[in-house]
Formats: sequence, C-alpha cells, structure tokens
Amino acid sequence: MAHLDHDLDPALLVELEHLCTGLASHAGRFIHDERPRRVRVADTKSSETDVVTEMDRRSEQLLHGLVRQARPEDGILGEEGAHVSGRSGLTWVIDPIDGTVNYLYDIPAYAVSVAVVVGDPETPGSWRPVAGAVSDPCRGVVHHARRGGGAWTRSDHGKRSVPRRLAVSTEDALGRALLATGFGYEAQVRARQAEVMREVLPLVRDIRRIGSAALDLARVAEGTVDAYAETGLNPWDLAAGWLLVEEAGGQVLGVAAHPGPALTVAAGPALVEPVRALFTARMHSEGDVS
Ligand code: IPD
Repeated sequence: MAHLDHDLDPALLVELEHLCTGLASHAGRFIHDERPRRVRVADTKSSETDVVTEMDRRSEQLLHGLVRQARPEDGILGEEGAHVSGRSGLTWVIDPIDGTVNYLYDIPAYAVSVAVVVGDPETPGSWRPVAGAVSDPCRGVVHHARRGGGAWTRSDHGKRSVPRRLAVSTEDALGRALLATGFGYEAQVRARQAEVMREVLPLVRDIRRIGSAALDLARVAEGTVDAYAETGLNPWDLAAGWLLVEEAGGQVLGVAAHPGPALTVAAGPALVEPVRALFTARMHSEGDVS
C-alpha cells in the first residue's frame, strides 16, 4: 500500500481530487435540489432505524455511472451496495448520503462523501485515502483534499469561488474540547456507546451529535469542533473525512494506528492521544470493537 501511495503521480492526484470535488458537489446538489417533500424509506439494513431512502440509491447510481465513465479501470465500493473490483489499484469509496436520518427528517446536516483509496477498503488497517471530497449541500460548500496538497473548502456554486484552506483547532485541553460523536444503529451497540458517553461528557466542554460522520470529520478539519470519536464506522463514512483532517494538520487514529470500525478518533496533534485514551480506557466489551 505504501508503495502504491508513493508511486502515485502528482498530476494523477490533482486529477483525482478534482474529480472527487466535482462528483461530491454534483451529487450533493442532486440530493438537496431533488429532495422529495416526503422522503420515502425504501429499505432498512442493520436495524429498523438504519434506513435507506430512494435518494440514497439514486445518488449512488449517479456517482457509480460517473466514476465508471471517468475512471473505468478503478474499483468502486458504495454504501448502498456498489461493488466493482478494479485493475488500477485505486478504489472509489462512496457514501451517497451520509446523515440519512437527517435527510429523512429534513434536518440540514447531510453530506455526500467521495474518496479514492489505495489498498483494500474492506480490510480495516490495510487502506488509506489519497484524494477525497465531502459536499455539504445545505451549507453550499464542498471540502476537498489530496495527499500532500492541503485541505480546502470552496463554495459549491461555480468554479470561480476561491478555496479557503482548512486547519484543525489548536485546543489542547480535554476539559475545553468540543467533542463530536455518533451512534450506531443497533440497540446493544448504542447502549454501550451511551455508557461510554455518560463517563466522557463530564470530562469535556460538551458533545455534539451532528448525525453525519463525514461532516463531523470535515468540522474537525475546519476547526469548528475540536475532536471527534466514534466506534462502528464503515469505510464510506470516514474515507474522505480522514484525508481532510490529516491534510488540515490533524491526526486520525483507531485503537491502533488506523481508524476503522473498532474506533475512529480525529483531532489536532495535542488532543488526539488524550481523546483516544478517553475512549480506549472505556471500551471493555467485545461489542465495542464491532
Ligand atoms: C451514519 C452517520 C452517523 C454515524 C453512523 C453512520 P449514514 O451514516 O454518519 O453520524 O453516527 O455511524 O452510520 O447511515 O447516515 O450513511
């Protein structure tokens, strides 16, 4: 994986970042502008609260088609089932609507996350993003990055908008940290996550449950929350946001070096270890690594 990463041509990275930005922005406008007044639940996944809407599927189909057209040799892994094994060593990891429950209720905090990764995104610890974008259509912005190129935000309306460079917060005290987090969809997992939160809440400034992991990570990158931690994330929830945070000067870790379903912690360099310790010390049961 490292070798692939180093071998990537800088011009290719620029092209991939540009594509991620365009695709996330396009799909973001699509889900926002075409949102039906009454969003219909098309299916459920891990539990009856883990919903899929018709628009999750349409957004993934749209992105799938555009990726196939632009990069026919690459693989694709999408939250709603897209699974293409590629020949280039690059895989597009797509969340067509991150924050589906917010979308269902018309709460303006949902995103489209598009990333290109090297390695195998289905094996935790064996992959890493090289380009990515998270569009936030309710704020009219798209955040984007490529490995080594910094993290940026620009307005979603037209190419002439001037990008703004992102930087993580410099907060270094846990007691003053605004910590974003999220919860899984299965009742037993949630019960354990709530137990951890009961102990963590008195130790930090406050917590935020925004409802989209991609937006949580984008907020860490732009310094509008100090840290983020959650268990149970899938590659599509975190691929683009992980890169945004690193390129904004922060770190993204798991129980070990790599983030993944066992744990994802993102923060500036001064806070990342204290936040990780806060969570790992409280993850007693097997279920916390699910
Ligand atoms: C979910 C959101 C949520 C997080 C969950 C994710 P979805 O993704 O990112 O904030 O807490 O872990 O599954 O279902 O809205 O795509």
